[in-house]
Amino acid sequence: MTTGSLNGAPVLVVGAGIMGAGIVQVAAQAGHAVWLFDQREGAAAQAKGKLAATLDGLVAKGRLDTVAATAALSRITPIDAMEEAAGARLVVEAIVENLDAKRALFRQLEALVAPGCVLATNTSSISVTAIANGLKLPGRLVGMHFFNPVPLMKLVEVVSGLATEPAVAATIFELSKAWGKVPVHARSTPGFIVNRIARPYYAETLALLLEQAATPAVIDACLKAAGFRMGPCELMDLIGHDTNFAVTMSVFEANFFDKRYVPSLVQREMVDGGLLGRKSGRGFYPYPEGAVALPVAVFEAPATAREVTVFGGGPIADQLERAATDALAAQGWGPAREAASDWTGLAIDGARLVLTDGRTAAELAATLGVPDVAVFDRPLSLPAAPGTALAYAVNPGASATWRGQSAAWLAALGFSPLPVADAPGLVVTRTLAMLINEAADAVLQGVCTPEGADAAMKLGVNYPAGPFEWLSRWSVPGVLAVLQALDATYRGERYRASPWLRRQSGTTAL
Ligand code: NAI
Repeated sequence: MTTGSLNGAPVLVVGAGIMGAGIVQVAAQAGHAVWLFDQREGAAAQAKGKLAATLDGLVAKGRLDTVAATAALSRITPIDAMEEAAGARLVVEAIVENLDAKRALFRQLEALVAPGCVLATNTSSISVTAIANGLKLPGRLVGMHFFNPVPLMKLVEVVSGLATEPAVAATIFELSKAWGKVPVHARSTPGFIVNRIARPYYAETLALLLEQAATPAVIDACLKAAGFRMGPCELMDLIGHDTNFAVTMSVFEANFFDKRYVPSLVQREMVDGGLLGRKSGRGFYPYPEGAVALPVAVFEAPATAREVTVFGGGPIADQLERAATDALAAQGWGPAREAASDWTGLAIDGARLVLTDGRTAAELAATLGVPDVAVFDRPLSLPAAPGTALAYAVNPGASATWRGQSAAWLAALGFSPLPVADAPGLVVTRTLAMLINEAADAVLQGVCTPEGADAAMKLGVNYPAGPFEWLSRWSVPGVLAVLQALDATYRGERYRASPWLRRQSGTTAL
């Protein structure tokens, strides 16, 4: 089958729920005549009524002119029987997330529409290959995965199943652009791009919570300081722990119970206890109050040091040198620099303040032969904006003085240091390493390109940067070292490094 442009072609949207209504709005505003069908009587007409109010709201806010709003609304036709839309050249399905229901619907549609009509499914988790199975023309079925709320979220994952014809995926890719979206090609695999690569954002937090390494408020503060719009705990509370747990379970099962995706006991306990998040009034935080603000801590000033040396040769060491120079300016002297070092951080007299590379403070203390060691998390930038949250951990065998002084030095560098347990990769570092690792496996398996992964994560879930952008600011050996440290600590398959990353580093031996 060949498909030309679908610009301006008549569209049928099936399912008038949250997603269907959004898709209708976007298509109608892009100039398409749109039929809307829902099996629930009156639902399509009701959705059109709500869309009229939405468009009026946009006019009132000055984001749409009256003529365009009236024209968009006039293009939407709620229908009581799908037969009325037999002339559609594109069907977008947004019904219940159930394989049998979707298969049955597409079989019914095949009998109605012309052979050249493209069939798109907005499924968020079901295999596009499986939905197409049994169709007479499975090549014309493609995933068109929008994100909620559809009119605002730019990303569309254009998902190809085994049978999907490249021309069909290309047509939907172009159409998505014409609708003002940013499409990204994806291969039909569990979670597609976004729902797969995002798993570690929750999983690493849940792992930290399971071993009581940090509180939800501390984890949220650290990841927000790293640029994420919402912390994982408040985000899970928003999504709902039942929904998030169901997605985690489905990705786990769909990957034949690969330990990489093993769900968390913390999450199941919350679901079993009815602590579902915002919707039930309690999740990690109570609602409507939400996240409790961390108490403002006051740190002692760093004691006068005799000697401060910045260790390491990378960009963070350079930033650290500038920040330490500023911090020492009042005392009238600056730090020394020792670029040839296998660790990055500050030597402050006999103590060591080390940027985490996966090794714990205790391991570093043993390696460096000094007890007064603390590790700190990867900062977004240095010097930090005052009060920027940053996780750190002190060697359990360190002196009481160094406990206070390690925090004092981080505070002098601009951070609001938050103590966590001495676990490998602290909070941000292990999370970023695992997000990069998951994205690397997705690329290895041909699910998406690195550029596609970056665009998808930034636009689909508002990440401050894409996983491959983080990788380019960090380094392949750096990420592998953190993964290896996690793997050595926790054992099992969960932290195995992606072969894609290992190949980039020129070694497969890890
Ligand atoms: P919803 O529950 O709000 O709406 C589904 C609508 O489909 C209902 O109005 C229902 O009456 C109708 N429906 C069910 N079976 C039908 C059938 N056989 N024929 C015609 N109409 C039928 O669901 P929502 O959230 O809009 O999700 C729809 C699809 O979009 C699902 O596949 C979901 O996984 C996917 N999706 C949902 C996202 C979300 O954030 N809610 C995000 C991305 C995708």
